[in-house]
Amino acid sequence: MSYIEIQYPKEKPAFYTLLKEQIALYTGSESNKTAVLANASAVIAQAFADANWVGFYLIDGNDLVVGPFQGKPAVSRIGYGRGVCGTAWKENRSQVVEDVSCFAGHIACDCNTHSEIVIPLRRADGTIWGVLDMDSVLPAYFTDEDRVGLEQTVELLKYIPKNI
Ligand code: SME
Repeated sequence: MSYIEIQYPKEKPAFYTLLKEQIALYTGSESNKTAVLANASAVIAQAFADANWVGFYLIDGNDLVVGPFQGKPAVSRIGYGRGVCGTAWKENRSQVVEDVSCFAGHIACDCNTHSEIVIPLRRADGTIWGVLDMDSVLPAYFTDEDRVGLEQTVELLKYIPKNI
């Protein structure tokens, strides 16, 4: 399937409706976890013009291990409770960070990053199997509306094989 360039609307409800349609289009018929997450990261990165890193960290033992992503090379492993990602895992909730320099323990992967959002990926029973991590060079780029929209968006990733 060739990618068709999309113009995303500025209004968040319409933006997230289209984003979810795009995720379903590029991942919905695939059952391989790597393929689903790789295309999901690509679709999300295309949608957020000012995101400089979009990707997944997946739980592996006591660590989150980097998975498919778009952006500069990043730290491979993040411990439980470490950084913004490990905090989302430990606190079992999304993190919206307006200024990463003010987040104690933030793990810098790109010194240009200014703000960040981390969204847990949940199984059908609600337990976490990984996180979506997004960074922006702009301050306070991600809003609470984005948290809600992205939490709904990653719901679509629940339906990949049950071996997660
Ligand atoms: N900033 C993240 C680390 C991963 S990079 O942003 C890609 C954190 O503090 O968990």
